Amino acid sequence: MEAFNNNAWCSFLFGVLLLSGSFVVFANAETHYHEFIVQATKVKRLCKTHNTITVNGQYPGPTLEINDGDTLVVKVTNKARYNLTIHWHGIRQMRTAWADGPEFVTQCPIRPGSSYTYRFTVQGQEGTLWWHAHSSWLRATVYGALIIHPAAGSSYPFTKPMRENVLLLGEWWDANPIDVVREATRTGAAPNVSNAYTINGQPGDFYNCSRKDTVIVPIDAGETNLLRVINAALNQELFFTVANHMLTVVGADASYTKPFTTNVLMLGPGQTTDVLILGNQVPARYYIAARAYQSAQGAPFDNTTTTAILEYKSAPCPAKGLISTPVSATLPAFNDTNTANTFTTSFRSPKQVAVPITIDESLFFTVGLGLFNCPKNFHSSRCQGPNGTRFGASMNNVSFVLPSNFSLLQAAHQGIPGVFTTDFPANPPVTFDYTGNVSRALWQPVPATKVYKLKFGSRVQVVLQGTNIFTGENHPIHLHGYDFYVLAIGFGNFNPQTDSAKFNLVDPPLRNTIAVPVSGWAVIRFVADNPGVWIMHCHLDVHITWGLSMAFLVENGVGKLQSLEPPPADYPVC
Ligand code: C2O
Repeated sequence: MEAFNNNAWCSFLFGVLLLSGSFVVFANAETHYHEFIVQATKVKRLCKTHNTITVNGQYPGPTLEINDGDTLVVKVTNKARYNLTIHWHGIRQMRTAWADGPEFVTQCPIRPGSSYTYRFTVQGQEGTLWWHAHSSWLRATVYGALIIHPAAGSSYPFTKPMRENVLLLGEWWDANPIDVVREATRTGAAPNVSNAYTINGQPGDFYNCSRKDTVIVPIDAGETNLLRVINAALNQELFFTVANHMLTVVGADASYTKPFTTNVLMLGPGQTTDVLILGNQVPARYYIAARAYQSAQGAPFDNTTTTAILEYKSAPCPAKGLISTPVSATLPAFNDTNTANTFTTSFRSPKQVAVPITIDESLFFTVGLGLFNCPKNFHSSRCQGPNGTRFGASMNNVSFVLPSNFSLLQAAHQGIPGVFTTDFPANPPVTFDYTGNVSRALWQPVPATKVYKLKFGSRVQVVLQGTNIFTGENHPIHLHGYDFYVLAIGFGNFNPQTDSAKFNLVDPPLRNTIAVPVSGWAVIRFVADNPGVWIMHCHLDVHITWGLSMAFLVENGVGKLQSLEPPPADYPVC
């Protein structure tokens, strides 16, 4: 996995690291050097060859494997024709917000022909994360797994699996995904849906020209193996199952969970789930399958099914031949919100945890869609959303607009005025029946670049309240720079009097992405102990495009160890 072979550059970087003097040295901790060359590569899927943007010619990109406590140094060179950034999804980036990656939030893009080196240390996170482009819709093909093994000398809190497999669920477009989002942005309409889902980049047996490349996942009778499932799809929550096999969930978003057993997973984009699978069935071939969980009513979606094959090594020979059809898998109905909710609410931390009890910041954010009336100077061809509008989305009615001249982080760090304001509202501007029949007068959000300021160390609670504006749907809300406890999830409007009684203050799960149920809410808590500018957004890329995000500006605390590090020398400027 050590893809790096430029020794001169390697030792130069090592020198820089030593000189910077600001990183903590862990016993046995290692520094891993990688080089990512991002460029167009010929990729053939669904019978056609495409010029696909990839990392090092691989789709999906390389899997990075480290131990907790290690440092990653990844030099990213942009040889594609688009602006680029890479985000290390779920890595806390303590004091290194410069390396987080969201375009115009923590950095300006890496321009075509340029490079930027991401440098960060992982502390106290174990399990499965991933990395992806965080610029336009490039992450459709620019993504890969990031596995964090226990620190040297420690082990999993479960029996060591015989084998480990990464299963990256993705989405494939026959069109260039960047063209798809550009067209949607021009017309104001909803973008086209994908043509296939993929497992490790392969659509699987149910698609044209794909069967010979279906991913095989090996198992043997009696083995317990670990599957690391990642939803890297752009715009779709997915159900996931393995025919005839139960799955024991042991982790999610690089935090361990109290084990529970299920036959189906539901992952929102951004989420990861680690499961143990026991080879206790007749040695044969079994389908591994994923397809949409579609919570929005009436909206078009990709209703295809991606598959891989769980293959017993001891399966009799004919069973391994292409002639034998694997045992088929059953997935829930597309709109099976009950199954999705049962799964989402099954998570607990393994032990009692230190949930912040007293709250300094009690925030209530609505999350949902919106529709912009057609601006006067726009031709009707640019207002092809419902009834001649343009699609939008917002949090607390603010439809987030990214700056273009500075990153928010640079502007905050250097005190550059005019880039953002700090008046992101703690509550929605009007109170209404969020999950009822919302008056058309409340559908239009206000575009702005607003952040919410947090004092270092403040204890924060956010109620994420879904709305039925245009349509209610499940929103996978992701916070950068933090893991948060999920105290409760429910349907309808959050009621502070009755719903606070349902808070799990004992063993709530720690996550970085929470799927807020359709026409429902979720309550999260975290301590603002990581200075920087951190975006919180819906991980359905189409919703980010429409403005479903906001950012927290977390101030420095006291002294160096509570302050953001200085920016790297090669930090991209706009
Ligand atoms: Cu995985 Cu801001 O995203």
